[in-house]
Amino acid sequence: MAISFKNVAKAFGQKKVLDGVSFSVETGEVLFILGKSGMGKSVTLKTTIGLMKPDRGEIYVHGEAVHTASEHTLAQVRKKCGMVFQHPALLDSLTIFENVAFGLETKNRERVIECLKLVHLDESILNRKPQEISYGMQKRVSLARTLAPGPQILLFDEPTTGLDPITTNAVNELIAELSDRLNVTSVVVSHDMGCALRIADRILVLDQGNILALDTVDRIKSSSEPLIQDFLREAL
Ligand SMILES: Nc1ncnc2c1ncn2[C@@H]1O[C@H](COP(=O)(O)OP(=O)(O)OP(=O)(O)O)[C@@H](O)[C@H]1O
Ligand SMILES: [Mg+2]
Repeated sequence: MAISFKNVAKAFGQKKVLDGVSFSVETGEVLFILGKSGMGKSVTLKTTIGLMKPDRGEIYVHGEAVHTASEHTLAQVRKKCGMVFQHPALLDSLTIFENVAFGLETKNRERVIECLKLVHLDESILNRKPQEISYGMQKRVSLARTLAPGPQILLFDEPTTGLDPITTNAVNELIAELSDRLNVTSVVVSHDMGCALRIADRILVLDQGNILALDTVDRIKSSSEPLIQDFLREAL
């Protein structure tokens, strides 16, 4: 098992964002997390790698307890997990090459170019600074940087929002391929039900602090839940 949440709760003030949430993600699985804005999708990803502590409950990554982990253990967990943030978090003062090579122990040019190719970019941008390329390109560079060290678990926060349809397809294919070929586990937060239906193994729907549904694509497709039906209509 790659990730496990047991009765995880997190509130901000009066707002219970996660109200006792339990689920597991199998190794090599692609799990999509869907939910309306503000329903705790990003919080779920952040607590998985200890960027945010839950108020209660337990979180395990490859059997390692994240909720009680020391900074040292968290650093090891984060080496295994790559996180692609909702907004590209590139370092402005570094070049694209330096950004992609950031997590590499040896700053290998070939590996950097290989990862840029995976996200449909090439070496022509290596010496540019993030502010000199478009938002969509920055998102792709940020994904390339996450892929570079070869993580076993990938956490994506809306990886395709703001990307053109061709790159969106490329990113989705990449997620499916990493899962099939390298047995990489992916958790993908998305608003895109169409994409979830194509590449997810299972879909988790978060609503009002709880799991409204967690099921295979086929079962989600035949769900009678009004919220899920709304998502399904958008995917038509
Ligand atoms: N650091 C924080 N401090 C205070 N409130 C927070 C913090 N992080 C998240 N929240 C609140 O928790 C709720 C859930 O946030 P979260 O970012 O997980 O939503 P989301 O499902 O990712 O939404 P979106 O689809 O808009 O990205 C929101 O109401 C948000 O305002
Ligand atoms: Mg979010």
